[in-house]
Amino acid sequence: MANVGSRTVHVPVMVQELVRGLQVVPGGLYVDATVGGGGHAEAVLEASSPGGRLLGIDADPRAIRNAERRLSGFKGAYALANDNFANLQVICATYGFSPVHGVYFDLGLSSAQLDEEGRGFSFQREAELDMRFSDRQEVTAADIVNTYSMDELANVLWTYGEEPRSRAIARRIVAHRPLKTTTELADLVQTVVRGRRRIHPATRTFQALRICVNDELANLDRALRQTPDVLGPGGRVVTISYHSLEDRQAKRWFRQESIDCLCPPEVPVCVCGHKATLRLITRRVITPTEEEVARNPRSRSAKLRIAERI
Ligand SMILES: C[S@@+](CC[C@H](N)C(=O)[O-])C[C@H]1O[C@@H](n2cnc3c(N)ncnc32)[C@H](O)[C@@H]1O
Repeated sequence: MANVGSRTVHVPVMVQELVRGLQVVPGGLYVDATVGGGGHAEAVLEASSPGGRLLGIDADPRAIRNAERRLSGFKGAYALANDNFANLQVICATYGFSPVHGVYFDLGLSSAQLDEEGRGFSFQREAELDMRFSDRQEVTAADIVNTYSMDELANVLWTYGEEPRSRAIARRIVAHRPLKTTTELADLVQTVVRGRRRIHPATRTFQALRICVNDELANLDRALRQTPDVLGPGGRVVTISYHSLEDRQAKRWFRQESIDCLCPPEVPVCVCGHKATLRLITRRVITPTEEEVARNPRSRSAKLRIAERI
């Protein structure tokens, strides 16, 4: 994280690895599906000049404004779309970005969002329980916390937060509703999750709620399914993820799309007709260097995967 005036500026993770992974070429067309503060986009535009063009997408209108500020030196070489990457194909078609040389996803939320007043993403900042990437979304974290049944809540915390104390936390939440603010929720979770943990006791609960509010895994699945259709032959897709659920999803999708037949082994002749659309480039996931983790601790959990359109 870096600060410019009172504004938190997101420090992009594994920039060189991303540019190399995409095999950025001058004149190439690229889609940044999570443009955020525009750090990766800036590096891709630099590497693809002269003649390169980039389409940046973000669900958060404030991220689009930050990207606009950062990319202002590349006028004419980029377009920004305030939309959900679940609509990837339609967005690319609308802006004339198909087929492209590369599309990439730097998942989750940015330091700017985490630090922004009133968003409710951080348990260290007093705010209403919102956590939406965009105001156009209807369901907030407060809606989930205050209306889901105990079983539904426990399920969210377990599935999206991998929180071992999910049931106990859900029970405590239901007993103390309504909860209005981040600190009320974080304090309540701390009464259930005690003892020493490497991370703050409320980390998993907040992660789970954010993923649920923004339907993050379903949207990633929708977007990944569309990547083969927006990439030209030899075009590359790169994902950078920060927790195991996202990484598993990218890994499974790349693996599935790199094989020809998906029939179970007992079926003697292929009946599914599935044809591989991608070639795996990273058999082993790429992680940041020790030097980068020391410089930017937020990068420590990052995992980068690459596949290529056949
Ligand atoms: C880690 S940040 C990206 C930072 C960016 N790479 C940079 O260099 O500044 C992730 C961004 O993805 C956006 N995002 C998350 N899910 C999204 C979705 N389904 N559709 C569009 N944008 C999404 C978030 O709003 C956030 O700005």
